[in-house]
Amino acid sequence: MRSITDTSIILIFILTSACSSDDEMGKMEVKKVPASFEYSISDSDPNVVLFDNTTMGQGAYTSDWDFGLGGPLVSDQPGLEEVRYDNEGTYIAKLTVSNEAGKTTASHTIRVDQVGVCPEGNCDPGRTESLKRSAQGFAIGTAVRSTRLNSTYDEVLKANFNNLTSEYQMKMNIMYPFEGNFDFSAADAIVNYAQENDMNVHGHVLIWHNATPNWITDFTGTDAEFESIVKDYITTTVTRYKGKVKSWDVVNEAIEDGTNQLRNTVFRQRMGDDYIKKCSRWAREADPDVLLFYNDYNLVFNEGKRKAIFALVDQLASEGLIDGVGAQLHIQYNAPQAGQIQSVVDETVSRGLLMHFSEIDIRVNPGNDITSMSSDRAEAQKVKYKEVVEIYNAIPAANKFALTVWGIKDDDSWLLDFWGNPEWPLLFDQSFNKKSAYYGVLEGLE
Ligand code: XIL
Repeated sequence: MRSITDTSIILIFILTSACSSDDEMGKMEVKKVPASFEYSISDSDPNVVLFDNTTMGQGAYTSDWDFGLGGPLVSDQPGLEEVRYDNEGTYIAKLTVSNEAGKTTASHTIRVDQVGVCPEGNCDPGRTESLKRSAQGFAIGTAVRSTRLNSTYDEVLKANFNNLTSEYQMKMNIMYPFEGNFDFSAADAIVNYAQENDMNVHGHVLIWHNATPNWITDFTGTDAEFESIVKDYITTTVTRYKGKVKSWDVVNEAIEDGTNQLRNTVFRQRMGDDYIKKCSRWAREADPDVLLFYNDYNLVFNEGKRKAIFALVDQLASEGLIDGVGAQLHIQYNAPQAGQIQSVVDETVSRGLLMHFSEIDIRVNPGNDITSMSSDRAEAQKVKYKEVVEIYNAIPAANKFALTVWGIKDDDSWLLDFWGNPEWPLLFDQSFNKKSAYYGVLEGLE
């Protein structure tokens, strides 16, 4: 047992140390708080800088900004400060932190060239234009393959694009080639590349009649078994990429050209007319944050098909199972007309949905009448690209999502095999040179 004397000594010791530390606190001098901040260039606007006040200090102090644009000091607000630098030049951004002991300042030099704010103040004269930096408030996408992410592709991708769609490796025949055997290797490579490079992935596509594995088409089990396999496939896939894939095309091309009816795919036969709702619901349940799209072609050319598609969209929307519409836009240098494209936009925007121009390519040789790219066609293609992009750019901000070009360089385009004609439908030529079409997009983004 501890004696009374021992306890008293301990108590006296505690009291003494508490008093002495109180005294020290009382005498403690208020020190100046060292100002510090970081800045980054906005992903959605190359002329906007985001300032982050990283000052840490005890006691009361205030922080005030001088962004180098003239005018009075601006007091710091919670969160990032967003500042636009429209004109080329050099600006000193300064943060002043004041407390009763005095003021400290931190500053950074912001340099702006014709492309926008220069990263780390480095306005390399070789620094060129960039599609993603020119797009304000939406993403610029392209179709990629896991084998086309290196060397010059890598440079072009990083410079211009921030939304990747897998050209064919995130389709069911590749991701689920045999019963019970998923193969996500190629999809993983694309998703990992996007993550490493700060890009979104648009998942394309959970269900497409043209990319259905044979074992599904030829499945001999019951309809209930079929449905549970599809549910498991969608749940497994969407769950795997939760937080990494921002959006999915759930079903692709469900409306048939010509009849404008629901295409009679194996999914419709086995799961019923509401199979798209079922698939969308499973995707929603697997990742409530992922954006769900319906994607199709010929929305611009075929009014009947467009009506049928938007009737389907309305059914999905009535149960909250759709966030956006993908219009593929495999189009030509001479068609469709701007008004036809605008109709698709209007139908989408009037429903409050996101608009994705999801697979843009513009053919210059639909009549197979040229054997090399002519300057006339190159110019006409540029004009069409610009028109498409201007229409997109004018969409209300809340309905913008992404513009996606279906591939990088002409000789990679799927159209060469699909139509069998010589074609030059994309933004880069076979040596990765920017074509007039590229500058058409850039002008459309202005
Ligand atoms: C195409 C790819 O480009 C090809 O590489 C693949 O072999 C077949 O699919 N509509 C779509 C896209 O939704 O998935 C298609 O992509 C082109 C037409």
